[in-house]
Amino acid sequence: MSETTAAKRKILVSSALPYANGSLHMGHLVEYLQTDIWVRFQKLRGHRCTYVCASDAHGTPIMIKARELGITPEALTERLSAEFVRDFGDFGVKFDNFHTTHSPESEALTTEIYEALKAAGDIYTKMIEQAYDEKEGMFLPDRFVRGTCPVCGAEDQYGDACENCHSTYTPADLIDPVSVVSGTTPVTRESEHYFFRLSDYEERLKRWMQSANLDAAVLAKLEEWFEAGLKDWDISRDAPYFGFRIPGTKDKYFYVWLDAPVGYAASFKNLCARRDDLDFDEYWRPGHDTEVYHFIGKDIIYFHMLFWPAVLEGAGWRTPTSVFAHGFLTVNGQKMSKSRGTFITARTYLDNLDPNYLRYYYAAKLGPTIEDIDLNLDDFVARVNSDLVGKLVNIASRCAGFIGKRFDGRLAQELADPALFDEVGAASDAIAGHYERREYSKAMRLVMALADKANRYIDEHKPWVMIKDDARQAEVQSVCTQGLNLFRSLMIYLSPVLPELARKAQAFLGETHWHWNDAGTPRLGVAINKFTPLLTRADADKVNAMVEQSKQSLESDDDAEADEDTIGIDDFMKLDLRIARIAAAEPVEGADKLLRLTLDLGDGERQVFAGIKAAYDPATLVDRHVVAVANLAPRKMRFGVSEGMVLAAGPGGEEIFLLSPDAGAEAGMRVK
Ligand code: 2FM
Ligand code: ZN
Repeated sequence: MSETTAAKRKILVSSALPYANGSLHMGHLVEYLQTDIWVRFQKLRGHRCTYVCASDAHGTPIMIKARELGITPEALTERLSAEFVRDFGDFGVKFDNFHTTHSPESEALTTEIYEALKAAGDIYTKMIEQAYDEKEGMFLPDRFVRGTCPVCGAEDQYGDACENCHSTYTPADLIDPVSVVSGTTPVTRESEHYFFRLSDYEERLKRWMQSANLDAAVLAKLEEWFEAGLKDWDISRDAPYFGFRIPGTKDKYFYVWLDAPVGYAASFKNLCARRDDLDFDEYWRPGHDTEVYHFIGKDIIYFHMLFWPAVLEGAGWRTPTSVFAHGFLTVNGQKMSKSRGTFITARTYLDNLDPNYLRYYYAAKLGPTIEDIDLNLDDFVARVNSDLVGKLVNIASRCAGFIGKRFDGRLAQELADPALFDEVGAASDAIAGHYERREYSKAMRLVMALADKANRYIDEHKPWVMIKDDARQAEVQSVCTQGLNLFRSLMIYLSPVLPELARKAQAFLGETHWHWNDAGTPRLGVAINKFTPLLTRADADKVNAMVEQSKQSLESDDDAEADEDTIGIDDFMKLDLRIARIAAAEPVEGADKLLRLTLDLGDGERQVFAGIKAAYDPATLVDRHVVAVANLAPRKMRFGVSEGMVLAAGPGGEEIFLLSPDAGAEAGMRVK
C-alpha cells in the first residue's frame, strides 16, 4: 500500500516524565529529541500522532528539596515545569500537551486504577519494617539512608545498594547508618503498606512482551527478572509524603511510581478536554485501533515493562503497543561530570550553541537499542560542520544565488537530471523505514550519502563556469533548479530532525507545508524567495565556553557533587549544627587553654572542652547561647571525653570570638 492510500494511524506517544526537582541536561535531551523526531516523522507522514508529557511532581526527593528551598512542593514543581517548557520549546521539542502529575486528572485516574485493582483482588496490605528518622518524624526511602556497606566496607553508600561492590541490601543492613535528612541514626519501625500482586502477572506480562516486539537486550533483561521471580510491589508510602492520599486511609500515599505513568494518560485526558478530535477511551480502553508508545531510558525498564503493563491489565485498561528504551549518554566517552564541565544543562547549551546542531548530532548517533551514545565534543563540531553546513546547506547556497540574480528568482520548468531526482525520491521508503524503526543513524547516513551525490552533481556541472557563457544560461537555470530540488527533497527527509531549518527552507522555496511524499515531486516553474544563510558553522570556542560555564556554575549549584575543594550538599547535610545554651563553664585543672563547658542542647546536656580560656572569664559564659556541632564523634581527651564542639572565629588566644545567635534562639534549634 502506498503512503497516500495507507490508512491514517492513530498514535499516542510519551517521553518519560522529568522529575520536577532539577534542570534538564544533555542526558535528558537524548530521549526528548529521539521522541520528538519520531513524532514529527509520523505527523509528516500524515498520521494522527499525539505527543504528551508532564512534570513528575511527587515523591520524597521533591518534598525534601522544596523544604530545603523554603517553598511548597507545588511551588517547586510549578517553577520547574515552567523551566522545562521553555527549555523544551527552545530545543524544538513540540509536545501536544505538557501537564503535571500533581493534577486533578492524575488523581482521578490513579484512584480509578487503584480501585479497579482492589476490586480485582490485586491489592493487599502487610506490615513492613523501614528506616525511620525520629528527629524528622518520617520514614526514609532507602536512598535517604547512607552508611558503610555491610559486604565490602565501603563508606558512605546508599541504603539499597553499594556503588563499590554492587551488592544490594536494605538500610537496616548498613553499618553506622545515617539519615540524609537529619544526620541522625535512623531506627527501624513497622508500618502497614499496600502491595500490588505483581507475582500473579507473569503469564500476562509474557504475552504482552511477545506482542510488543521488544529489543533483544531488553527481552534478555526481562527474562532475568522472570527467572528471579516477580515480587509484589509496595505501592504505598507513609506521611509526610508529597503525593495523592490513598482513598480510605488517613496517612498513606500512593508511591510516586504508581501515579507517574498514569501521568501519561492524565496529560492526554487534559488535552482531550480541549480537543474535539481526540477521545480518551479510544487510546486507553481496550479494543480500539490505536497505538500507544512510551519512550524511556534503560534505567526505568522495570517500571514500564513490568509494573505498568501489569497495572493496566489488572485495571482493565489497554496495554502499551510497545515501549522503546534507549541507552545513557556519555560525554567525551565518560559519565557526565560536574568537575570536568561535561554536566551541561539544556540552558547552558542554548546560551552557547544552536539547538539544530544537537538535534542532528543525536540523530546521527541514535539507534533502536539500549546501547549508550557518546557526545564527543570534538566530533560534534566536526560532524555538524561537515554534514549540515558542508554538505546539506551547501547545496542550496551554491545554487540559490544564480536563480535569484539571473532568473528573477524563478525555477526552471524542467529538471536537468530527472533520473538523479528520482534516485533521491526512491530512497523515501528506506529512509522512512529507518525512522519508523528508530534507526536514525542509518537514516542520517543515507540522507548524507544523497547529499554527497547532489554536491557531486553541482561540482560536475559547474554553474559558476557556465554562467559566463551566454549560450548556456538556460542550462544554468535547470542545473540550479535540479540542485535546489535535490536540496528540497533532502530537507523534507530531514525535517523531523531539523524542523527549524526545514521551516526556513520552506520559506525560501515559497512553500508553507510539506508532506513526506512531497520529496518525490519536484518544484518547478515557480518563483522562490531570496536565500538567507540557513545555518552557521559550529564554533569550537563556543563549545569550550559552554564547558567552562558548566564548571563555573557548579559554585552556585546546590546539587554540586563534592570535588577536592568543595563539599556537596550531602556532606553539608551531615553536619548537625545546633543552638546550645552554656549551662556551666569552668577551668580545667592542668590545662592552660581549655574551659570545660556543659552545653544544654535542648535534649540533654553534653560536656565539651573548648580552647577559649584566654578570651573568656567562665562566669560570663553561663547562660550564653552559642552554636555547637552536635554530631561530632566523641573524642577522648586527657581530661575527659569531649562530646561536640562550639563554633568560634579568630586567630586564637585572646582573640577568639564565640558565635552567638540573635536573641530569641533557643537551645536545641537546628542551624540551617
Ligand atoms: O526516572 C525519572 O526521571 C522519572 N521521573 C520518570 C517517570 S516516567 C513515567 F512513568 F512517569
Ligand atoms: Zn560494598
